[in-house]
Amino acid sequence: MTAHLPDVPDHYFTGGPATAAERRSVTVPIAGRTVEVEVAPGVFSPARIDLGTQVLLREVPAPPVSGDLLDLGCGWGPLTLTLATLSPEATVWAVDVSERALDLTRRNAERLGLPNVRPCLPDDVPDEVTFAAIWSNPPIRVGKAVLHEMLRRWLARLTPSAPDPAPGPDGAGGGAWLVVQKNLGSDSLARWIEADLGLPVTRTNSAKGYRILHVTC
Ligand SMILES: C[S@@+](CC[C@H](N)C(=O)[O-])C[C@H]1O[C@@H](n2cnc3c(N)ncnc32)[C@H](O)[C@@H]1O
Repeated sequence: MTAHLPDVPDHYFTGGPATAAERRSVTVPIAGRTVEVEVAPGVFSPARIDLGTQVLLREVPAPPVSGDLLDLGCGWGPLTLTLATLSPEATVWAVDVSERALDLTRRNAERLGLPNVRPCLPDDVPDEVTFAAIWSNPPIRVGKAVLHEMLRRWLARLTPSAPDPAPGPDGAGGGAWLVVQKNLGSDSLARWIEADLGLPVTRTNSAKGYRILHVTC
């Protein structure tokens, strides 16, 4: 059995895939449908869709209809499954450091009949891939240094948006959409992205103590 690292919270457990005995089904809404997905202990928010993730899903515009899309820190896959359902012609890269999360996302995509999902470890995404949109409920609790490194790495791979995006799903949903709790530093994170990465950030609606940061390039 793989041991938990003492300083890593449960939902950032990086051990192997869950066993059949550990996996269980929950019913959740994904892109307007009620579906059953598999979850397991050691993966973020295993009982339901996390509140912050729900806020992001409610506020974010429809993703681009094609191209490569990224769910950064996919967990069991609520954002990935939504992206892949809404944009069946796009390729959705579901990235996580947890093999357990990736395995659940893979299983859930199969269960929902979504062949356009590519679950993978960060280093396994081909270097040439750039992203028309990134959706993320990022792992704030890993600490600033890791979080900043992660955002520096992936925001650099955003496809530049048109200066004046056309209205409609292809124009409006590009860029990175991050949900961050206000009391976990959403505003200072937005300032860091602008100052250190030089990317414009719009703080869109905030609800239930969360902010949505929209980053473009
Ligand atoms: C707040 S959870 C969000 C999970 C899922 N997107 C959701 O909304 O339920 C953040 C996820 O980021 C993952 N993570 C932590 N460090 C990471 C890194 N360096 N690169 C990619 N993912 C990471 C964690 O394993 C966790 O699954």
